[in-house]
Amino acid sequence: MGRAIIIVFSVIVMWALAHSAAAMDHESRSQSWKQKKEPKRLPCGPSNFTFYLHNTVYNPAVDNRNNFNSIYGRPPNISFPNPFSFGVQNTFEDPLTAGPSISSASLGKATGFYILNSFTEYVLFHIFTANITEGEYRGTIDIFGQVREVDPIRYLTVIGGTGDFLGARGLASNRLVKIDRVPPAKWTLSFDLDLYY
Ligand SMILES: *[C@@H]1O[C@H](CO)[C@@H](O)[C@H](O)[C@H]1NC(C)=O
Ligand SMILES: *[C@@H]1O[C@H](CO)[C@@H](O)[C@H](O)[C@H]1NC(C)=O
Ligand SMILES: *[C@@H]1O[C@H](CO)[C@@H](O)[C@H](O)[C@H]1NC(C)=O
Repeated sequence: MGRAIIIVFSVIVMWALAHSAAAMDHESRSQSWKQKKEPKRLPCGPSNFTFYLHNTVYNPAVDNRNNFNSIYGRPPNISFPNPFSFGVQNTFEDPLTAGPSISSASLGKATGFYILNSFTEYVLFHIFTANITEGEYRGTIDIFGQVREVDPIRYLTVIGGTGDFLGARGLASNRLVKIDRVPPAKWTLSFDLDLYY
């Protein structure tokens, strides 16, 4: 009777030891697997970035051919009123600066276009590349989305990047900094980017 109890007890102890050894082994294997599989963190760009975009429209009435960086395309061929220029495209190559003033540090250029895409108000659907060639970070940032004039903050998306911004995605919060409607129309927009890599 006594021996039987000892045998049963030692079987239980051996089973428990074997089980915990297996558990430890499993744990250490999963640790080393984790170490192997954990992706190496690549150096990535800034998590926030701000630039100011300066746009001057070409206006044939004042013929500012020496001082413009955006041009409207032909209006759609329609015979009814089109007060918000639905379907009109503007192509731009705008200087970018680090501060709100055009004379602040240059960062590069934004090239792309917008299309006016509302019948009832001014909405400018933007697609452009910010080519950042000066300053601490260099590379391109691709931005996409609606700029509805009445909104104080317009939320666009960052859909990619190159260079220091390689793999960037995120949010581009846009605000109107100033506008001068006297022909040729000029405006400055700010873009505050929250970036994820
Ligand atoms: C990011 O934000 C911090 C804090 O607001 C600011 O000091 C820094 O200059 C910003 N970085 C860039 C690249 O804009
Ligand atoms: C505009 O459309 C009308 C009617 O379809 C056509 O006769 C005219 O040639 C078009 N004009 C242009 C500039 O394409
Ligand atoms: C950005 O600008 C630099 C300098 O002008 C140029 O070499 C480069 O090709 C540009 N990149 C893009 C994507 O436009």
